[in-house]
Amino acid sequence: MSDTAASPAGDAATASQACETHASITKSSARRASKTGPVLAAPVKAAATTAKRAFYGASQAARVLWFTGHYIAGRRLMGPLTEPGDPPYAEKSAPLDRARMGAAFRELFEADWRNVRDGVYKMPIDMRRAPSPSSLWRRSRDYLRDSAQVARRKTRGGHSEVLSDAARERFPRYYLQNFHYQTDGWLSAASADRYDMQVETLFTGAAGAMRRQALPAVADAVAGRDAASLSLLDLGCGTGAFLRDVKDNWPAIRATALDLSPAYLGKARAELGRWSDIVYRQANAEETGLDDAAFDIVTAVYLFHELPPRARRNVVAEAARLLKPGGVFVLVDTIQYGDEPGLDILIENFPRGFHEPYYDSYCRADLGALFADAGLARRRDALAFLTKVTTFEKAA
Ligand SMILES: C[S@@+](CC[C@H](N)C(=O)[O-])C[C@H]1O[C@@H](n2cnc3c(N)ncnc32)[C@H](O)[C@@H]1O
Repeated sequence: MSDTAASPAGDAATASQACETHASITKSSARRASKTGPVLAAPVKAAATTAKRAFYGASQAARVLWFTGHYIAGRRLMGPLTEPGDPPYAEKSAPLDRARMGAAFRELFEADWRNVRDGVYKMPIDMRRAPSPSSLWRRSRDYLRDSAQVARRKTRGGHSEVLSDAARERFPRYYLQNFHYQTDGWLSAASADRYDMQVETLFTGAAGAMRRQALPAVADAVAGRDAASLSLLDLGCGTGAFLRDVKDNWPAIRATALDLSPAYLGKARAELGRWSDIVYRQANAEETGLDDAAFDIVTAVYLFHELPPRARRNVVAEAARLLKPGGVFVLVDTIQYGDEPGLDILIENFPRGFHEPYYDSYCRADLGALFADAGLARRRDALAFLTKVTTFEKAA
């Protein structure tokens, strides 16, 4: 078994390099200096930036260490990608380029820091508010206990536990799977509650920073306009992580959170409670029932790789219908084959370790053609470690 299996993130040492700490300058000394007059304005500003960077670096390093520890423990429980007794698997992609993986991980955090420093977006909420030790402990215990169940499910190929006649009446067939071998699939409050810890752990603390690399595309769409006049729809919003970043930065934007899972939507509602104007809609992203041309921005974060090709096409057509002329679609999902050739082996092996039936077809999809067929022109691609942010535009 290759140890490149489902091992997308760098290790803790890489993270520490990524998060340079300049601990000598504190916020309070910067504040004291700011009272000393305009002559010192530039040095004071530089010191404040240095302090902010130190804070960013230390917080990210702590997060990455925390999630890397859980990643290692989870991997131990999961065992090898090829189950004992299964025929050996011959990897098709080139061996993992570890140097490139470390560099891509560092570049992600450097880009995240630059965006914070330059005011593209704020210091992330979860870095402004330290989590309580009791919630950390609860999440850690829950994650590790559940990982043992996930491992057992993987061993016995248990990816259809959530399929039932009653569920088939409410959800499309493709949705009724234990994606990632997760307990209860998308269909319970416990699954929704555990999801963010699982995703951050999978990416050893990089998931939040990867999602945030879509915020510059939102900033471009908002630029020069009154955010209160703009409407944004997040398809497959999950627990609301991306909308939290959006509303934190543009509180006035009119946001709609859509997900097919009542449980995940419920969690999003709880997480986003401080913004009482968000509209929640439980619906299939293929057929939302929302009005034509109702949105300036439509986003989909880590939704597309969970969809079979036909559903993907339907979602793109639906988004094109929902967008106003000139509106933008921001797609955030895994990198595809060839985006980072040295990391192809990670995307080849990912669906072997996790139940991801549509991942491989997504990684091979021609996104430009898929969106062009619905009248959306590809404008820009940005890589963010194992994520790609692609922006499309509807003709004005
Ligand atoms: C991998 S999660 C991504 C969640 C979130 N966007 C994030 O950034 O973490 C996929 C989400 O898409 C939702 N989903 C999957 N298929 C869907 C569909 N056809 N319509 C609406 N939501 C769907 C799932 O319920 C789940 O919440």
